[in-house]
Amino acid sequence: MNELVLVLDFGGQYKELIARAVRNCGVYSAIEPGSISAGEIKARNPIGIIMTGGPDSVYLPLSPRCDGDVWSLGIPVLGICYGMQMMCHMLGGEITPGAAGEYGRVVVSPSAPSALLGADAPFPALMSHGDIVSRLPEGFAATSSTPCCPAASCEHAGRRLYGTQFHPESAHTQSKVIRNFLFDICGARGDYKLDDYIATATERIRQKAGEERVLLALSGGVDSSVCAALLAKALPGRLTCIFVDHGFMRQGEGDEIERAFASRKLRFIRVNAADRFLDRLKGVTDPEDKRKRIGEEFIKVFEEQAAALGNIPVFAQGTIYPDIVESGGKYGATIKSHHNVGGLPERLNFKEIIEPLSGLFKDEVRRLGKKLGLPASLYARQPFPGPGLAIRVMGEVTRDKLDVLRRADAIMREEIDKSGKKPHQYFAVLTDTRSVGVKGDGRTYDRVVALRAVTTNDFMTCEYAPLPHKTLRAISSRITSELPSVSRVVYDITSKPPSTVEWE
Ligand code: XMP
Repeated sequence: MNELVLVLDFGGQYKELIARAVRNCGVYSAIEPGSISAGEIKARNPIGIIMTGGPDSVYLPLSPRCDGDVWSLGIPVLGICYGMQMMCHMLGGEITPGAAGEYGRVVVSPSAPSALLGADAPFPALMSHGDIVSRLPEGFAATSSTPCCPAASCEHAGRRLYGTQFHPESAHTQSKVIRNFLFDICGARGDYKLDDYIATATERIRQKAGEERVLLALSGGVDSSVCAALLAKALPGRLTCIFVDHGFMRQGEGDEIERAFASRKLRFIRVNAADRFLDRLKGVTDPEDKRKRIGEEFIKVFEEQAAALGNIPVFAQGTIYPDIVESGGKYGATIKSHHNVGGLPERLNFKEIIEPLSGLFKDEVRRLGKKLGLPASLYARQPFPGPGLAIRVMGEVTRDKLDVLRRADAIMREEIDKSGKKPHQYFAVLTDTRSVGVKGDGRTYDRVVALRAVTTNDFMTCEYAPLPHKTLRAISSRITSELPSVSRVVYDITSKPPSTVEWE
C-alpha cells in the first residue's frame, strides 16, 4: 500500500491540480468530498490531509464544513484558501470580508520561521480571495502576510495544522509549500512511482479477471490504447480488442493503431465499417443528429462483433481518475457519456468490468503509455472527438468531403509539427461554404477550409493559438495547391466561450 494524502474538496476549481502536485512529489493522493467523516478518514490511514479552496464565505450559514473531529485526529492538515479560512473559523478564529480582494499574483512576505514555507525571502504567489482571517484561533501564529492580508499563511505547529491563503498548487506560486508539507511535516517517504503502479495494477487485473477472457473497445485514443497495452501485459493472450473503424479517422490513423498493437500479445479485430457509418449519415446535417447516429451505429457494430466472438465475460474500459472525480465519485461502472460506447456494458451483460486506469490522471496515463512502449503518436496524442472527422465536415458527410478534409488536416499538422511549437489542439475543418477564387487562367467556385488551433489548460475554456504567420502561410499555400477543390483557407480566431473547440 502506498502512503496516501487525502485532498478534501470544498468546491475549489484546483482540486485536481492539488492532487497532481502531490503525486508529482511521489506521494499518492485521492480526492474526497469535503463532507467525508473523520472515521472514514481514519480508516484510510492518510499521512496528511489537504483541504481545497472553494467559492463560499465561511461565515455564511450554508457554507461547507468538514467533520469537526478532523482537527484532532493527529493527522497533519494543510488548508488552502477556503480550507484555511474554514480551519480558522471552526477553531475559534474570525473571518471577515477584506478591505479589498486579492486576485492574481501577489508578493507574500514571510514574517516568522515556518517549516511549511521554508523561506524567509518574499515570493510571488497566486491569490484569489475576498475574505481574510482577521483573528487567528488560539495557539495559531501568522507566518507570512501581504499588504491586504495579515495572515497569508498560519500554523499551529504543535497540532500540525497549517494554512495558506495563497494557492501553493498554482504554477504562479513560487514556493515549496506542498513539498515541505509532505516531506517535512507529514514525514512522507515518496513511495509512489508509476513503475509500481504497473506492478500493482497487473496484480489487480489478474485477480479480477481470474481465468476469463477480456474484451476491450479500442478507439485508439490515449486512454483505451494505454488500457489495452496494460491489459495485454497483465493477461497475455487473453485480451480481445475490437477497434471499430468508422471511417472518420485522420490520415493513416487506423493503420497506425493497428500497427501499434500488432506485436502485442492480444487479439486485435479491426472492423472496417466506413460504408455503414456513411450510409447512416446520408442526408444528415444536424451536428447532434450526427453524433447520435454515430453512437448508435457504433454500439450495433460492437454488439455484432462481440456476439460473433462468443461469450467473453469480462469487459474493460479506459476510465481515468478525472472521469470519476467529475461525476462526484459515484461513477461506478457506467461509461463516460461522451464516449461513443455509452451503454455497452449494461447491454452486453458482463460478469465483471475492469477499469485499470481509474486511479490515474491524464498526464500519468500518457507517462504509463510511454513506459509500456506505445508510440508517441498514441500516448502523446491530442484529443480527438469520438465521432471523428464527421463533426469537422460541416453539413452532410460524404466520402469525397472526408478525403479533402483528411488531406487538409494532415498538411496543417505536418506544418505545425515542423514549426516546433505545438498548441494543445489543432486541426482543419471543412466548411460547407463555397467561395470564388482564381487558379491558372480560370475562375473557381470552390471549398473553404478553416484552420483551428487552441491553447487551453482543461478544454473547458480556450484561447485561439496565435500561430506564426509564416506557418499559416505555408499551410494555406500547400492546401490550395495540393487540393484542387479548395479555393480559400481561413483561420478561426475565436476563444471558448463564446465558441467551442470543435465546430459542431
Ligand atoms: P468542445 O467542442 O466541446 O470540445 O469545446 C472540448 C474538447 O472535447 C473534445 N470533444 C469530444 N471528445 N467525444 C469526445 O471524446 C466528443 O463527442 C467530443 N466533442 C468534443 C474536443 O476535441 C475538445 O478537445
